[in-house]
Amino acid sequence: MEVIISKTSEAMSKAAALEVADVLNTKPNAVLGLATGSTPLGLYKELARLHKEEGLNFSQVTTFNLDEYVGLPGSHSQSYHYFMHENFFKHVNIPTQNTFIPSGTTSNYKAFCAWYEQRIADCGGIDVQILGIGTDGHIAFNEPTSSLQSRTRLKTLAESTIDDNARFFDTREEVPIYAITMGVGTILESQRIVLLANGKNKAKAIAEAVEGPITSMNTASALQMHGSTRVFLDDEAASELKMREYYDWVRDKKPGAPQL
Ligand code: PGA
Repeated sequence: MEVIISKTSEAMSKAAALEVADVLNTKPNAVLGLATGSTPLGLYKELARLHKEEGLNFSQVTTFNLDEYVGLPGSHSQSYHYFMHENFFKHVNIPTQNTFIPSGTTSNYKAFCAWYEQRIADCGGIDVQILGIGTDGHIAFNEPTSSLQSRTRLKTLAESTIDDNARFFDTREEVPIYAITMGVGTILESQRIVLLANGKNKAKAIAEAVEGPITSMNTASALQMHGSTRVFLDDEAASELKMREYYDWVRDKKPGAPQL
């Protein structure tokens, strides 16, 4: 894991956007794995800016989202279909038929999840997966005790996640209890992973994920087994890391490092 700490959330988003742009510039038909939530908003904004002002081209890109609430139609303002359209897809030139998001309204969840996994494989796998992290250490909706080999499936959300996400709904009772989510095993098969976290409330989950033992109690910790993960943080989210000085040292020494 490489840990890249920026002073502000805005700088964190820009650094992560450059990583994604780098993938697109070397592989224009890249497959992107996308996340929702408040964390990646700045990243999507910066990618949209790079598209408009610097010609970053998404015309051959395919995308797969991590998860979707069960029971919310795509037109619901809190569905992840709606989120992606409003915050990203409508600002860039990804062909609509190349965008995949788990269905929250299918009549057969098991068959849908198997189809979703197959679709990712048929597209050649995910080149770069963007991730946020929950305060309980979840990636996608892989709540604590999820198998670290899990695949796309129906998941019951933890009560702490429902509490965290209640801010987006009028009442807590409206937060869906179930979601379809890619599994930890699905995520680990991505070529590259970009994990983002900002704010003090993520500091503990990040310290456990990056420096703690690998455990299903913090599913982000499974990323320690992934060969190409970069963790982009702001100062607050990095505030409980013990190895902070080392991460900054690596960053500062990078310009002189031998080329691999
Ligand atoms: P957030 O959610 O970006 O809204 O904090 C992250 C997550 O739960 O994965």
